[in-house]
Amino acid sequence: LSKKRRDYTPPSHTIETVDLRFELSPQETKVTAVSTIKRIDTQSSVLFLDGKDLCLQSIKIDDQILTENDDYKMLDNGLELYTSLATFTLTVVNTIKPIENTSLEGLYYSNNAYCSQCEAEGFRKITYFLDRPDVLAIFTVSIVSTAEADTYLLSNGNLITDTGFENGERTCVWEDPFPKPSYLFALVAGHFDKLVDEFTTQSGKKIALELFVDEGRLGQGQHALDSLKKAMSWDEQNYGLEYDLDIYMIVAVDFFNMGAMENKGLNVFNSKFVLADAHTATDEDYFNVEAVIAHEYFHNWTGNRVTCRDWFQLSLKEGLTVFRDQQFSADMYSDLVTRISHVNVMRENQFAEDAGPMSHPIRPDEVVEMSNFYTVTVYNKGAEVIRMLHTLLGKAGFRKGMDEYFARHDGQAVTCDDFVNAMQDANGADLSHFKRWYSQSGTPRVRVEQASTGDSQTTLSFTQINTPTRTQAQKQDLYVPIKLECFDKNGHKVDTRLKNDTLVMNSASTALVLDVPNEQITPSLLQDFSAPVLIEYDYTLSQLLIIIEFAGNDYAKWEASHNAYIMLIKEIYNAANGANNNADMQLRQDIEKLATAIKNLTVAPEVLAQILSVPSAESLYSQIEKVDPIMLYHARHKVVVQLSNTLHHFCIRHYLRLSQNPRPYAYEKQQVNNRSLKNTCLHLLAHSSAETVAPLIALQYKNAHNMSDRLGALKAAQVTQDDTFDSLMIAFEEQFGDDAVVMDKWFAMQAKSSKTDILAHLDLLQAHQQYSIKNPNKVRSLIGSFAFYNTLGFHQIDGSGYKYLTDYLITLDKVNPQIASRLMTPLMQFSRYASTNQVLIKAQLNRLYGVKGLSKDLFEKISKALIM
Ligand code: ARG
Ligand code: ZN
Repeated sequence: LSKKRRDYTPPSHTIETVDLRFELSPQETKVTAVSTIKRIDTQSSVLFLDGKDLCLQSIKIDDQILTENDDYKMLDNGLELYTSLATFTLTVVNTIKPIENTSLEGLYYSNNAYCSQCEAEGFRKITYFLDRPDVLAIFTVSIVSTAEADTYLLSNGNLITDTGFENGERTCVWEDPFPKPSYLFALVAGHFDKLVDEFTTQSGKKIALELFVDEGRLGQGQHALDSLKKAMSWDEQNYGLEYDLDIYMIVAVDFFNMGAMENKGLNVFNSKFVLADAHTATDEDYFNVEAVIAHEYFHNWTGNRVTCRDWFQLSLKEGLTVFRDQQFSADMYSDLVTRISHVNVMRENQFAEDAGPMSHPIRPDEVVEMSNFYTVTVYNKGAEVIRMLHTLLGKAGFRKGMDEYFARHDGQAVTCDDFVNAMQDANGADLSHFKRWYSQSGTPRVRVEQASTGDSQTTLSFTQINTPTRTQAQKQDLYVPIKLECFDKNGHKVDTRLKNDTLVMNSASTALVLDVPNEQITPSLLQDFSAPVLIEYDYTLSQLLIIIEFAGNDYAKWEASHNAYIMLIKEIYNAANGANNNADMQLRQDIEKLATAIKNLTVAPEVLAQILSVPSAESLYSQIEKVDPIMLYHARHKVVVQLSNTLHHFCIRHYLRLSQNPRPYAYEKQQVNNRSLKNTCLHLLAHSSAETVAPLIALQYKNAHNMSDRLGALKAAQVTQDDTFDSLMIAFEEQFGDDAVVMDKWFAMQAKSSKTDILAHLDLLQAHQQYSIKNPNKVRSLIGSFAFYNTLGFHQIDGSGYKYLTDYLITLDKVNPQIASRLMTPLMQFSRYASTNQVLIKAQLNRLYGVKGLSKDLFEKISKALIM
């Protein structure tokens, strides 16, 4: 059932050109594919073509009609064609049923429009083909529609013919001059509103930019187009990369499995990552739209011009492109806040994945269902690995490597090794040790011990621990760059004699000797999250306070405050286990100290906002072995409440100051940063016992002139758990009931409610007229938010939360296996919970395993989970 990376073989044949003709109909679309095929392997007398859920009409080689069993044979996953011709033309005619396709993979019909999604292996649901990324063909696509309402018939590349609607039909023909693998094919047809713009490249070429949105949504499209233009010039300035077609199109659709897709010249987006205006989108939404637009645009070079040889190499394009979009976001907005948000993803999601049954290297070795490997490991850890290369080679060296990569591989389908080799050769570096990051799974832990060396020196010793996993019993030490600073007791920076403040571990252990006595040293470790590892160092609160006060960089301050919260939460958690009566008093004193350090800071508002944000419960799971999630939730809550009470006046002061004289909404740094501090203060205030807060929340909601403030108020109201929340939610629904993207926020808020009858509540919400199990955004908002973020509801001690999710997965798997598979993540991570929870979750996994006709997607995950 599974495929292994080491079994790669080049294709027996290649397809040089393909002429596709679609005769559209929601019930039955006819697809005619005429391909010119060349044999590569001269020994081969069989051509295998992938195909899934297709209804074959006829098949022809040159002019000869083929007969089943004599000339070809049907298999479960495609067909086998018997021929020894060196070159030939293959004509395949088949039909598909877009309206019945709820998997949203291949060609599907939703909201009165046709839309395709082919990565990774969706093209085989359109026609029989060599559906693999190392077969690059030139595509010509004719789209025929008999519906006059289909105002746009779109595909990749340039429009070369448009007949207009005449005699009951219309045909548009598109030609993409760049050879591409089938996963980059796209087709969109239907009625949209169109927003147009233009970009002139650095070499003076004019590019037409076109954005397609649902009717009536043009006003929400300009931010996406502005973001696109920024991304286009950023890539020119930073990597010398220019756009290569005359037209760039983006279509926003409501039904989409992922964020977006980089199809050549015709990106398809989840409307959540396109539509934004002040009224409907938060600052965070604006940020995400900009980032995803940039990500897909950057793929045009890192992904499309140079693509992957096979799907095990996915990180070649995804890790690199995520790194590039992160660099872009940092340049557009804030280096620090951008970095923190990505570090949080690593600690909350990637570390968990790497510690669970799905743990895999950024370049996996074995895959059953490729969709299961579009993961935080391949994407985000992959980006961290690229970031380490950037650190190691420096900005200029990294650029040299990128130039070399394109010089060598433009137009090719290549491997991760090819990428690292280009980096290596361009810089005369030896990256053989570094390459282990591509093959080893799991999160390295780096244990840091501090001890006296004589009377006046200190030794910091660093030891890497790479714990064996099921698929990798032997782990190797990795190349780990650790950015660090040390402070003495007065907060003065101690000279570490390290180049760029970075200690490079290129073996299992290393030591650093400092000329300052042990008692006086405070290290600030892994600054900027310089490597995707877990640091183990036993800080005291006073040490953390020294870093908060004296560190010259804001990241270090944030990290120290973050560590302080973790430390306090753990103490409360452990005390709750042992009923320690002193714990509360100790907490009060510690928070007092921490609060004083925070109050004394002179940092930018967005930095303060981050420092006032207590780490999420999810990021704490990796901190405590066999954690009881409910107890952890209460311990965290207690810390937040104490912090809130202690900083009450401080927060009120900031809140009132930042609430005065609001200017008309704009997504610009100063406003965004101020709003972020204001809403962070309000959220923290909501935890305090003061009664003054509820009216502030209601007032903010009433006066809000943008979505950030409205949602800020709503989230604060959710904390206070009074009637305010329910009445604001009703008002919100009345106002935004017909905006699908906005209503996702509403469903998510509902799902996170701490109502005791949350499961009955979820049933009711599923019956809401806006809800549909066929729409991935809705499923993620409601069921996803519940399972991922509603600690009290999901982890109910009778196991009813786990059962609820499992019941849902059984139904959803029949509708959309990809989404079901993503949604089962909370169950996959059972090994980090206390044994009571583990037993309950495993019972549900076993039940799921017994379901007949389970998808490959779920099967792969459950079978891994159950043998762990
Ligand atoms: N390449 C797309 C992106 O990262 C994501 C495609 C995801 N496809 C999938 N089957 N999961 O921009
Ligand atoms: Zn991508």
